[in-house]
Amino acid sequence: MTSGNNMLEGKTIILGITGSIAAFKGADIASKLTRAGANVTVVMTEPACRFITPLTLESITGNQAVTSLWQETGGINHITLAEKADMVLIAPATASIIARLAGGFADDLLSCLVLATKSPVVIAPAMHTAMYENKLTGQNIQKLKECGFMIVEPGEGRLASGAYGKGRLADVEVIIGAVKLKLGVNGDLAGKKIVVTAGGTRESLDPVRYIGNRSSGKTGYEIAQAARNRGACVKLVTTAGLPGETVGMEVFEIEAAQDMLVTVRELVKDADCLIMAAAVADFKPEKPLSSKMKKSDRAVNIKLIPVPDILSEVKGKFLRVGFAAETENLEYNARLKMKNKDLDLVVANDVSGKGAGFGSDYNKVTLIYRDQTTKDYPLMAKSHVADILLDEIAGLF
Ligand code: CTP
Repeated sequence: MTSGNNMLEGKTIILGITGSIAAFKGADIASKLTRAGANVTVVMTEPACRFITPLTLESITGNQAVTSLWQETGGINHITLAEKADMVLIAPATASIIARLAGGFADDLLSCLVLATKSPVVIAPAMHTAMYENKLTGQNIQKLKECGFMIVEPGEGRLASGAYGKGRLADVEVIIGAVKLKLGVNGDLAGKKIVVTAGGTRESLDPVRYIGNRSSGKTGYEIAQAARNRGACVKLVTTAGLPGETVGMEVFEIEAAQDMLVTVRELVKDADCLIMAAAVADFKPEKPLSSKMKKSDRAVNIKLIPVPDILSEVKGKFLRVGFAAETENLEYNARLKMKNKDLDLVVANDVSGKGAGFGSDYNKVTLIYRDQTTKDYPLMAKSHVADILLDEIAGLF
């Protein structure tokens, strides 16, 4: 099944590259889409070819790059490409292509094919801040949004001129996240509201120290992205600063288990499903200090007290999915958690093994259901685990 995290497999994407200094990043985008299994054909404007050669893109995608309406490809270029596209992505998009599209122009291959396609169009602008902030560009972008185009906001940073400001092409990971969001909008989880927790909580000892754990947050982020890619409305509750794109999600950054509890309790009020992938602390210092603890030669005793168990505390008519990170008696302990925390589904994994679990990109899981059935899976990428889990959740809905 090509949904969720592997949704790009077999998709035909027309990548439009226009004449911005960020055109070289088009090669990275083409490469990442191709490696994810998409069939990418690059369409380049004449100015884009001054920044990067068609040969580069052809070598990356394995497909002929098309640079003009008149290039010999065996078809009517703009129509053939418009019709075969599952999506048209223009990255980077200059002020010029944005203005021409907003004006309905059909004066080169890229503008013609955008006008001719019935597939979704995603546009990632890149230009100097003054051009981006110009009222005309703003109006053009607004017009494109009203016509259903998705705009991936540029970021702030150092520009080609040396100045700092808004106008840098968005991160490649974010652009690809936007492609997935748009492609998956009518997926099998469309309309479902899913709350996902990710990362490890941090229990404060003093203003500079905390008690934390080894969770990388990867599993939670993969699940959140996979759910978004299948059309779900995702609310991600996470510890701050974890890597991973969150395009199209509502993100809530928290520190301690207590903050996570308060946030989750509020969010589940209208949720269809809660997936607790976070590694929540079990204990916290009884009396966190308000000023930094000074070094001393003597041993320090810190009294730890239990924190609330979030899954046990939040109640409601939503699907409840928990994880069971175990180092021994995997199934027995997981079943106990299912009973104690009133779960519909438990993702049990052995965190003692090398190459799986905390910090790794891989995991070996067993899914356990309320009716006691279990499904064992081999070691696989966490992105794949996320897809499998969401297949099961879609089934439970
Ligand atoms: N969990 C929670 N609140 C906590 C601790 C855990 O909601 N204070 C959730 C986790 O997010 C996970 C499930 O409960 O989905 C099981 O977490 P795990 O760490 O495996 O088990 P614990 O309940 O903490 O028990 P133990 O550490 O003794 O195994």
